[in-house]
Amino acid sequence: MRKEQPYRWQEIALGTCYYPEQWDRALWRDDLQRMKAHGISTVRVAEFAWNKMEPREGEFTWQFFDEFLDLAEEEQMKVIFCTPTATPPAWLTEKYPEVLNCRKDGTPFRHGMRRHYNYNSPKYRELSARIVEKMAEHYGKRPCIVGWQIDNEFNCETNEFYSPSDDLAFREFLKKKYGTLDDLNEAWGTSFWNQTYSDWQEVHMPRTTISDECNPHQALDYTRFISESTLEFCGLQADILRRYRKPGDFITTNGMFGHLDNHRMMDQCLDVYTYDSYPNFAFGLSENPKAPENLNDRRWSRNLSEVRSICPHFGIMEQQAGANGWVGRMEAPAPKPGQMMLWAMQSIAHGADYVSFFRWRTASMGTEMYWHGLLDYDNRDNRKLEELVRIRDRVKAIGGIAGADYAASLGLVKDYDNLWDEEIDAWHGRLAWQSEQAVFRAAQLSHTPMDMVFLTGQTEAEDLKKYKVLIYPHPVMLDDRKAEILRDYVQSGGTLIIGARAGQKDQSGRCAMRPMPGPLAELTGTTVKEFTLIGPADEASRMDCGGQKIEAGIFNDVLSVEDPRANVLAVYDTNYYKGEPALVETLAGAGRVLHFGGTFTPANAAWMLEYTKAAHPWQNVIELPADCELAVREKDGARWFIALNYTGEARRIQLKTSMIDKDTGAACEGEICLPPYGTKFYETKM
Ligand code: GAL
Repeated sequence: MRKEQPYRWQEIALGTCYYPEQWDRALWRDDLQRMKAHGISTVRVAEFAWNKMEPREGEFTWQFFDEFLDLAEEEQMKVIFCTPTATPPAWLTEKYPEVLNCRKDGTPFRHGMRRHYNYNSPKYRELSARIVEKMAEHYGKRPCIVGWQIDNEFNCETNEFYSPSDDLAFREFLKKKYGTLDDLNEAWGTSFWNQTYSDWQEVHMPRTTISDECNPHQALDYTRFISESTLEFCGLQADILRRYRKPGDFITTNGMFGHLDNHRMMDQCLDVYTYDSYPNFAFGLSENPKAPENLNDRRWSRNLSEVRSICPHFGIMEQQAGANGWVGRMEAPAPKPGQMMLWAMQSIAHGADYVSFFRWRTASMGTEMYWHGLLDYDNRDNRKLEELVRIRDRVKAIGGIAGADYAASLGLVKDYDNLWDEEIDAWHGRLAWQSEQAVFRAAQLSHTPMDMVFLTGQTEAEDLKKYKVLIYPHPVMLDDRKAEILRDYVQSGGTLIIGARAGQKDQSGRCAMRPMPGPLAELTGTTVKEFTLIGPADEASRMDCGGQKIEAGIFNDVLSVEDPRANVLAVYDTNYYKGEPALVETLAGAGRVLHFGGTFTPANAAWMLEYTKAAHPWQNVIELPADCELAVREKDGARWFIALNYTGEARRIQLKTSMIDKDTGAACEGEICLPPYGTKFYETKM
């Protein structure tokens, strides 16, 4: 079982990101007063301001932030103070170039942007620990400080590290993991293409190769190593902050980026997790953002669900407040009137109890001049500030939702081994990406609130039992422990659905010499007879389920039934394996497992949600059109239904029972109009 998160916000709070070092001091007080007047109670500062505390090596000065914190205290503004390690100062990188991260070919990343350091340089660790300790010692007891952010966005910009320090540390990581070179050679399958190592000195991180690919088992260990390195660097800072912070002040960092076990980071280093939420990015993921069935910014709810699995009651450290772009990147338009509110409410609907807008005022210089904040360069009141006032009032009305649990009876199962293997193995990756999107979309369109459920070292079957249905689309890497937990879940009444390629690989990412689905075969009562990708010249794959034709995706495992308990629900209807089992249901204990040989598509995922009766769990209470999202949160015997309209047009919803509209306090029932980009919070008794 995972431990309870150590910190929770007691009420929904609003914040913003502020950069005192980028503005004339004469503006500070006015900024803080204006923030307060518009409902902002917390500012985050200092994450890129190492120079303001150590302008030259070993020369510490506290005056700059002392002045700012004095003002914050006078203006009763709370502060989240950051460690500044995301941007090492020029004096540091100039004198100690070994702290720099490098390209794969060894070329160092020079000063001028950010996140150009590496986690394994002993010098960078030493200087980072020193600045963190000194600043925590100096500012730690300031009354206005309520929390600490470590660094900024670990593994953003890049999640690959190729400095000489990383190379050395990788070798040590492997020595610890494997003990002997023989074991490493075995795990990495180095007899393939004559890669056998005979001395540890020959073992390196992935390096430039003829096709820029490398041994896939080496790549998997390298990703695990990056995650370990990040955790160590974060832990180093967390341990220091813990010694100096006031009781009750939280330690956090803002995510969420790749090659990092965020769940372990949360459990080992943090009190609460925060996320940087820019839903405008989701438009870029759509093949056709104009297609009505496309989820666009609503897709961002997938990310928020993943954040919730890391930390159920999280914060948003950066909530989109304007158009996105850097000087060299033109990303996304300004939020339409109402969208800032919608996106803030989307965060809250998914479990955020703190929402901090990025940023107070758009930078008037530097790379991010087009990453727009609440205020524009001219510093005048604008429509975003007006919307902020509406958000402030809204938050007062719905504030009671803080600490409520997101309620889902459907879970999409994931784990880090598979996530990282997906990046390396294009076959695995393509299946996983499409299937996850498909299941998410089917859940969204059927108004089935869904959690992301990560199987980690801490997960026990008990954690899974609250879900009626779990879909683990492609558990390509499966070990006995995971299989055991899943078996326990099924036997105690759960419904588990697995898709193609389950149990294909071992923990090194090697294809296991046993029938799929490997350690789950006993539970499913099936094996995989053969398999194929659906080629461009093939007919789109289909299966026949009692006369109903259902899509079978982009890859097909042809199943064979091994156990009399197993019941064939559907057979393939296309290709040379027409008539062979495609979907098999097997009862086990009080539950059942569905082994699906294909990959998930929006249509077949919708079918499976219907078949397992997971879909539309609240249709007797509230009905929404497909293009609105439903989220449900529960607390102290109260259930909150949150309806979100992502379209620029009004939408009608139906309340089938009387509920309290939290904005007005009035009981309502029947047909309700959600205005363009409108959101509603309703409360009922459970
Ligand atoms: C985030 C980052 C911010 C700012 C913003 C806009 O990733 O934490 O510092 O850079 O994006 O680019």
